[in-house]
Amino acid sequence: MIIGVTKEIKEGERRVGMTPQGVDALVSHHHRVLVEKSAGVGSGFLDHEYGKAGAILVDKAKDIWNEVEMVVKVKEPLEPEFPLMRPGQVLFTYLHLAANRELTLKLMERRIAGIGYETVQGQDGSLPLLRPMSEIAGRASVLAGGMCLEARYGGRGVLLCGASGVPPAKVVILGAGVVGANACKVALGIGARVSILDIHPERLSYLHDITQGHIATFISNRMTIGEEIAGADLVIGAVLIPGAQAPKLVTRQMLKRMRHGSAVVDISVDQGGCFETTHPTTHENPTYIEEGIVHYCVANIPGAFPRTSTFALTNATFPYVLQIADKGFEKAMQENETLRKGLNLINGKVVFHAVAESFGLAFIQNPFSPPSLKIPS
Ligand SMILES: NC(=O)c1ccc[n+]([C@@H]2O[C@H](COP(=O)([O-])OP(=O)(O)OC[C@H]3O[C@@H](n4cnc5c(N)ncnc54)[C@H](O)[C@@H]3O)[C@@H](O)[C@H]2O)c1
Repeated sequence: MIIGVTKEIKEGERRVGMTPQGVDALVSHHHRVLVEKSAGVGSGFLDHEYGKAGAILVDKAKDIWNEVEMVVKVKEPLEPEFPLMRPGQVLFTYLHLAANRELTLKLMERRIAGIGYETVQGQDGSLPLLRPMSEIAGRASVLAGGMCLEARYGGRGVLLCGASGVPPAKVVILGAGVVGANACKVALGIGARVSILDIHPERLSYLHDITQGHIATFISNRMTIGEEIAGADLVIGAVLIPGAQAPKLVTRQMLKRMRHGSAVVDISVDQGGCFETTHPTTHENPTYIEEGIVHYCVANIPGAFPRTSTFALTNATFPYVLQIADKGFEKAMQENETLRKGLNLINGKVVFHAVAESFGLAFIQNPFSPPSLKIPS
């Protein structure tokens, strides 16, 4: 197969869809890989590394779209990329179509076979290509929170790990999913005292076991949240109700009970945030203070760590890229249910139910589903 990797053009995006290691593996399977010059620079991969791995370096994105059967990217395509797309081309990237009608219509018009990373779904309902970014956001949130506690950011000047003769900080994590569990690991590793709250007892039980009881776990409800955060130095919001806005678990009144100079990191900001006082911030200007509490509400935390994020993302995406290349798109779709679930569009039609429903568009069955799995339309 001929596969293309273009440079991301979305502002501030420094990740890239494939590493030189990925190129090397595809080339060893006798595929051709075209990489746009400087595509990997933001993640610390130089052109000569791709060249050494066997990539054909190309000056312009146009010449890649013109030649390849599949384009592997990170973010959704933007306006300048639409005219470059060719009918039947496979596009493997984050699409988030349910939130973007214009993009959906454009990709239908261009008759792209669009597989969205975010909709590739395991049999157990897991989202293997979203998970790596949640891991990174969770881990990085503790570092961000530690920064917010520094005096120069308006924090109370507390070091998360404390010092000999000085107790460590108290970190409270709301939500014990992928993000929360990863925040928990780092906070505990740094030496903080950690409390974690969730509505699902089995998530708490799992974390309690793997940390050998070194954390305090609580069932999440309004009263317990209020009591726990009142004594916290850092509160991390990591809740998710799939497909819905994040619940506002911490009201302004509850925040007023926290000590001045404490910090909150709202990772759920991309779903509206779980603090009443949350509004989205950027890496350029990540914090603000309300009610004396330092807020960090960056909506794309992994963007600060493009190299780690690119490795984490491509570790997860690459096995699917290789399958599509080796088997061909149709056979890979037929044989791999997890990958098949990621298909959003093909031949100008929407085959992902939630996307069709969001925009009142006609839904057609995924043409690669075995007959027994087809949903009645
Ligand atoms: N800001 C960023 O850069 C960034 C990056 C990755 C993920 N996220 C966001 O982080 C959030 C969490 O993602 P995830 O992958 O951990 O999801 P997840 O589904 O793995 O975990 C969410 C957890 O929240 C829990 N929860 C739901 N309601 C709750 C409540 N009332 N109280 C306590 N816990 C509750 C659920 O039981 C679940 O365990 C999502 O909104 C996701 O979009 C943000």
